[in-house]
Amino acid sequence: MVEAMDTIGAEIMARADALGACSEDGPGVTRRFATPEHRAAMDLILDWMRDAGMEAWTDASGNAVGRYEGTTPGLPALIMGSHQDTVRHGGRYDGMLGIITPIACVKALHRAGERLSFAIEIVAFGDEEGLRFQTSLLGSKAVAGTFDFTDLDCVDEDGVTLADAMRRFDLEPGEISGIARQPSDVLAFVEIHIEQGPVLEARDLPVGVVTSIAGSSRRSVSITGTAGHAGTVPMDQRHDALCAAAECILAVERHCAATPDIVGTVGVTEVDPGAINVIPGGVRFTADLRAPDNETRVALVEHMTAQFEDICARRGLQVDIQTIQDSAACRCAGWLMDQLEAAVVGEGIAPYRLMSGAGHDAMALADLTDVGMLFVRCTDGISHNPAEAITEQDAGTGARVLLRFIRDFSPTGPVS
Ligand code: GLV
Ligand code: MN
Ligand code: MN
Repeated sequence: MVEAMDTIGAEIMARADALGACSEDGPGVTRRFATPEHRAAMDLILDWMRDAGMEAWTDASGNAVGRYEGTTPGLPALIMGSHQDTVRHGGRYDGMLGIITPIACVKALHRAGERLSFAIEIVAFGDEEGLRFQTSLLGSKAVAGTFDFTDLDCVDEDGVTLADAMRRFDLEPGEISGIARQPSDVLAFVEIHIEQGPVLEARDLPVGVVTSIAGSSRRSVSITGTAGHAGTVPMDQRHDALCAAAECILAVERHCAATPDIVGTVGVTEVDPGAINVIPGGVRFTADLRAPDNETRVALVEHMTAQFEDICARRGLQVDIQTIQDSAACRCAGWLMDQLEAAVVGEGIAPYRLMSGAGHDAMALADLTDVGMLFVRCTDGISHNPAEAITEQDAGTGARVLLRFIRDFSPTGPVS
């Protein structure tokens, strides 16, 4: 048992590499929902769950689910997990660490012949990032019972609807409502995840306990101007949609940089027609706006909406702003923070609490049950990037903290 925990960091790194190989071509890892790469990753995960003594299956929303019964079958479960999908050209640990690590912990329990007074479930959510359909948290919303069935009409870049993609992946969308959990069957949800920022590294700490997760609002902004000849239309007579978009994008940067705690990103731009000698007639861009509380986020969205409208009106252009998604900020439960922190201290590590600027599956699970999160330090705070890295030692430390937390887990409330 002690021996197994000594090599746990190496096993986690090897498994992250194995999942990372389930990728589309290109730098880093690209794994979109309901694709052959998703299937390959899921097959590995299901094998590892079974090897850890769990019953394992694929649910109707494309999640891999494993269950390790407690002392008697059918007990309420502590659910742990994170996502299998990635951003385009992402890293090997975002999401994956939160699947591999709890599997390693259950494997340690199984090898030691330990059953606990509760069941453990691990869910490897099929879609969190939303890369293929722009609809994030699909898997965790299905488990939480908040799946939005209108999302089934969303289309990917090839015009395939989410519903069709699911059917081609042997999933039946009509069965999604059947996988929603009852609150009485669930004790809590706990997610271990790389920090994706530089705070733990700056404090020389391998892990930290998350206090809350910032909310985010995503918008699709379409600007319509007038396409024209790049050589003939005088500069003062143009309605250049790309110039308006550029002004909007810089307005996001200026406002967010000047206001504490909020962040804003334009990550996608599409120019129509996109030719060197044509004045851009149309531009679509996305805006991802985040804030630590809902009031601030709503004010941020209102401010940016007004700015986009003013900029386009001044330039004589049309603007249309569509909501892609609004995710509320989410607080982690105090009693789970206390128990995670007790496990951190139990492993001889100084306790530290921090908030998450990134979104996580825990946000969706918070509609079902109390949630807690443990962050593991990542190198240079880099994430959503092929260079994303953690050390084998920190992977092992995260696993030891999580295993201690699981063994000591008491669903009755704060540590006394
Ligand atoms: C998830 O990775 C997010 O965009 O926060
Ligand atoms: Mn991510
Ligand atoms: Mn993630």
